[in-house]
Amino acid sequence: MSEKPPFLWGVATSAYQIEGGRTDSKGDSIWDRFAHDPGRILGEDTGDVACDHFNRWEEDVALMADLGVTAYRFSIAWTRIHPDGAGPARPEGLEFYGRLIDALIANGIEPLPTLYHWDLPQSLEDRGGWRSRVTIDAFAEYAATVVAAYGDRVKSWITHNEPWVAAFVGHLEGVHAPGLTDWTAALSAGHHILVSHGRAARAMRELVPDIRVGIALDCRPSWAASQSEADRDAQRHFDGFRNRWFFDPVFGRGYPQDMVDAFRDRGRFVGDSPPWIHDGDLAEIAAPIDFLGINYYTSIAVSAGADETEDTGVSPGPDPPAGYTEMGWEVTPEALTEFLVRVHAEYGPPSMLVTENGASYSDRPDTSGSIHDDRRIDYLDSHIGAVAAVRRRGAPVHGYFAWSLLDNFEWSLGYSQRFGIVWVDHSTGERIPKDSFDWYRTRIGEGI
Ligand code: GCO
Repeated sequence: MSEKPPFLWGVATSAYQIEGGRTDSKGDSIWDRFAHDPGRILGEDTGDVACDHFNRWEEDVALMADLGVTAYRFSIAWTRIHPDGAGPARPEGLEFYGRLIDALIANGIEPLPTLYHWDLPQSLEDRGGWRSRVTIDAFAEYAATVVAAYGDRVKSWITHNEPWVAAFVGHLEGVHAPGLTDWTAALSAGHHILVSHGRAARAMRELVPDIRVGIALDCRPSWAASQSEADRDAQRHFDGFRNRWFFDPVFGRGYPQDMVDAFRDRGRFVGDSPPWIHDGDLAEIAAPIDFLGINYYTSIAVSAGADETEDTGVSPGPDPPAGYTEMGWEVTPEALTEFLVRVHAEYGPPSMLVTENGASYSDRPDTSGSIHDDRRIDYLDSHIGAVAAVRRRGAPVHGYFAWSLLDNFEWSLGYSQRFGIVWVDHSTGERIPKDSFDWYRTRIGEGI
């Protein structure tokens, strides 16, 4: 019996959501451009400063050391390394992440970098972005560059964060960068992102053969709103659209045929097979992974006519109904257990990490400066309990990363949502650990 790897206790962030530092030798990403397009972001917020992590990173590493996490999932801003998406790597960018990585390791915290957390270089977007196959090779070259720089001391890497969101929220719903609203753009972008995952994995392994490569897929468990055939069909389609469209090809099954047929029947493409799938693509996408990242927040009931939407009927905002977070998401930890059991049974990943899980509640400092975020503590406790339960059922879940360390830029919702276990005053950069920070430190000490 191979030695079980130690369970990783972590926190997660992403570059555009926390770093700021837009003026320091970083090229613009599609999120720099999108966030400065009036009307796109609630409150006209941008990530120009965000949590000022670019300047406060040592303070944040010290917070993590105090917290007692054994791993930190962050993302590398592609445009800090390649401001224009290609060409020679900028030394300042390599130095920034090198210092961060070395400080993490010096504090006994394993770095877990995500190569792409939605911040494509704008110059690549100007040449077609993820709708173009050119970006596939650009991504593989970027991956090779950072692995060449850090592969001697960073052993595990995530290629992409949530390709479904990058593809569909960014290219169909239009509420994320680059703000497109076109099915062909969304489906082809999602495909090219997956191909780039496989091509990058191969390039990374050529440089460091024993490197561990994974991908972080977001998952949205669902159930039929009723047992009517129409609702059950709608839920099957929702699951195919939201989950199987990415899980199946990553695990070597190609695209689910029921969804290929449904997309053709709905006019999303013409012909027997989507024209953007080239010979060899599916095999490239199916490059073996060493671990699967699962980003989980909530689940949803699906009814006929709502088979491609995620409307819980509860709008984002303060004072949500009991059992919902301020994102309008229902709190359903049992769905995490069921989904992890399903993924283990149906896809058989060698290892799984819950790479994101957390809740948005905007509890504020009281007169003593304390932040009593009891609802977040309850959320984290119940979902960590779900992970412990699925491990007892034999699923190879080897880590849990709370989203997020810091209150940060929540994309189209700007700073209106607070997911952090550390409060951030975004006008001053002040950090205040919340009660959940202290609770998480104690929970880590208790073990899984
Ligand atoms: C995601 C992203 C994070 C979000 C978090 C809360 O899963 O959408 O990875 O960047 O901020 O999930 O929505």
